Amino acid sequence: MRVLCFGSVNLDHIYNVQEFVKPGETCKALSVETHCGGKGFNQAVAAAKAGLPVSLAGCIGGDGREFLKNCQQVGIDTSYLRQVEEPTGSAVIQVNQRGENCILLYGGANQTVTRAQINQTLDAFEPGDVLILQNEICELAYLVEEGARRGLRIALNPSPMNDQITRTMLEKVTWLFVNEVEAEQLCGASDPEECLCRLQQMCPEGAIVLTLGSAGSCYCRSGTVTRQSAFRVQAVDTTAAGDTFTGYFLAVMLKTDDPKRALQTASKAAAIAVTQKGAFDSIPWLEEVEAAQM
Ligand code: RIB
Repeated sequence: MRVLCFGSVNLDHIYNVQEFVKPGETCKALSVETHCGGKGFNQAVAAAKAGLPVSLAGCIGGDGREFLKNCQQVGIDTSYLRQVEEPTGSAVIQVNQRGENCILLYGGANQTVTRAQINQTLDAFEPGDVLILQNEICELAYLVEEGARRGLRIALNPSPMNDQITRTMLEKVTWLFVNEVEAEQLCGASDPEECLCRLQQMCPEGAIVLTLGSAGSCYCRSGTVTRQSAFRVQAVDTTAAGDTFTGYFLAVMLKTDDPKRALQTASKAAAIAVTQKGAFDSIPWLEEVEAAQM
């Protein structure tokens, strides 16, 4: 079994601020740092650090060399990453003193993915392989369609939510990863139990992984729900916590087929990630997660 993460790659410009800038306001940032990020990259890194062999596909610009270096460092195969004329995608991220963030995205190279690139990449994979997707690149519907037609198992994190995400897509996924806000946007319910029920109807063939912030997370398949409480830590930067959770959950689930263990390890990994700044560096290795006493 092989794992392909076809997704976004962003240079994250992280501004640490006292409070988020309001309309019409000019504020001083306390510090600024640039890190490798993007939901596709982050999820591939998390899965790789959790011990899964991963290939990352997508597009970067000439300014994206740092990503290749980082991927190499954690053992991610980059042979399906294409270099294009457009600059690498970027994100302006404000992180406040409570570790919360708000993100402004510029698609850049992520918006140059073509159907030809998708076909060529998927040609190298086989039925039963795993395709990890998010919603920060173009041609997502085609990726889901083609991935499913070729018998790949699809893990979809429809983040950031917009009208690119359709009901037809959801019917084809094996694992749907959503937080409570995305769940409500998709199914209209705010109560977690009701969300699971409705999302399960929308993804009849799949499993739902619902994260609920400080209220923990749950997994639902064929009406059976597994729950996990959150680990309490002092948050410094929540960027990539969800991506860490997704990559870790999949890695453990694929290795053990044990949703309880997958939820627990993913929650621990995400808790560790929020105690450090940035995306790439904050995602822990499996040894650190397993050794952590929480
Ligand atoms: O999920 C976190 C990621 O969202 C950041 O790395 C940023 O690039 C945005 O895509």
